[in-house]
Amino acid sequence: MIRARVTLAVFSFVLVTVLSGCEQTSPPASSQTPPENLAARVKALEDLIPSQSHMMADVGDHFSNLWFAGRAENWPLADFYLGETKSHLRWAVRRIPIRKDNQGRDVNLGNILEAFENSQLIQLKGTIDGKDKAGFEKVYKESLTVCYSCHKAADKPYLRPQIPTEPASHIMNFDPKANWPL
Ligand code: HEC
Repeated sequence: MIRARVTLAVFSFVLVTVLSGCEQTSPPASSQTPPENLAARVKALEDLIPSQSHMMADVGDHFSNLWFAGRAENWPLADFYLGETKSHLRWAVRRIPIRKDNQGRDVNLGNILEAFENSQLIQLKGTIDGKDKAGFEKVYKESLTVCYSCHKAADKPYLRPQIPTEPASHIMNFDPKANWPL
């Protein structure tokens, strides 16, 4: 989460700086910037977008925290981490929508994600809304097999997720009855 926020902060700053041409006094870019300059700026921005693996590492962190939030029956926190997982999965798929399988054929990651969202991720939301711990654990484990099926499809069978052994965020209190900070 922290990594994502820092990345976004740096990215936003550079976006503003690059688009504003770094000079307070210059007239609006549209009236002055030659097209090749604009292309160079777009390229500079593209180079700054985080990689797909960076976004997926965030997915790994959010999904790990989700396990501990659900096990602690901290349902609002679990709902938050499920939402973060979904939005970062979508972001990762927008970053590189098509990958190759081990035969060099196209793999449409968007289709795999859509199927995941419409099955296990919806079911996970249902277990969170219904405060169903046993159901949550079962669907969470199933979800890991879907995570892995996409990694295999994208020719990365060595990216094998497991039930996390500890939360990714050590600073977050997972106890639903925590009473500090007030
Ligand atoms: C739609 C396909 C897809 C789904 C679904 C998916 N992943 Fe990934 N994941 C990838 C791809 C592709 C990579 C490799 C990215 C790269 O190497 O640039 C990856 C890489 C990763 C990595 C390694 C990141 C790093 O570089 O450290 C983690 C962790 C990860 N995924 C976790 C998950 C988890 C957890 C889920 C399920 C909640 C999941 N992924 C679901 C496609 C997917």
